[in-house]
Amino acid sequence: MNSQITLTKLYQMKKKGEKIVALTAYDYPFAKMVDESGVHMILVGDSLGMVVQGETSTLPVTMDEMIYHTRIVGKAVKNAMVIGDMPFLSYQVSIEDAVYNAGRFLKETGAAAVKLEGGAAVSNTIRAITKASIPVQAHIGLTPQSVHQMGGFKVQRDEERLLSDAREVEAAGAFSVVLEGIPADISRKITEAISIPTIGIGAGPDCDGQILVLHDLLGLHDRHLPKFVKQYANLRKAAKKSISSYVSEVQNGKFPSEEHCY
Ligand code: KIV
Repeated sequence: MNSQITLTKLYQMKKKGEKIVALTAYDYPFAKMVDESGVHMILVGDSLGMVVQGETSTLPVTMDEMIYHTRIVGKAVKNAMVIGDMPFLSYQVSIEDAVYNAGRFLKETGAAAVKLEGGAAVSNTIRAITKASIPVQAHIGLTPQSVHQMGGFKVQRDEERLLSDAREVEAAGAFSVVLEGIPADISRKITEAISIPTIGIGAGPDCDGQILVLHDLLGLHDRHLPKFVKQYANLRKAAKKSISSYVSEVQNGKFPSEEHCY
């Protein structure tokens, strides 16, 4: 176990009003950079389906793929809490499956916790997984695995339901909850109403912490970016420029030059 960030530390941060910084990662080199930059939580998100595997939703991602990516992230991380994201159908079919699959993250990777999507509807599942001593982060609001039921990736505005979902996942034992695609004023009310840290994505500034998808933040792809994303770099442009230079240098005989020869 590498993590310096414990559940106790996260609760203290919420109490003191210190912002929790979370980010996704899916492989060793990026996970190392994210960890070295002082991020507190690294989520190996099932967003990997969309930003790494080229899928149009997170639905095709499998348990074995999540285990593979979480294991290589786990090897790179020394400080942050690594959280494995439970993919579609890994926890919806039965509570037994859910506990077993959640346990695989802790047993086979460097993860210290798991995340799963849903509010009141998955509270019994959260209860069973936490009973098996596996910390669970819940995820409410815009839950991408329910894209078809929601009729698209849409902001969720039912305040009463969102507040009740947040209270239910807290009561079921979740140590934290991701609030995705929720108007800022509702996220603020949820953050004030519960004692576990809220981590926002498209949920305004008043959550206890923030999370973004690494590939969105770094500009690593040319997909549509939602309004809530701030792109801090355009690494796709930089990478393409470097690759094009390599292509033309090989073609015009400039590479390899003498300094790259034995
Ligand atoms: O899969 C993911 O990356 C996520 C975050 C966007 C919260 O669920």
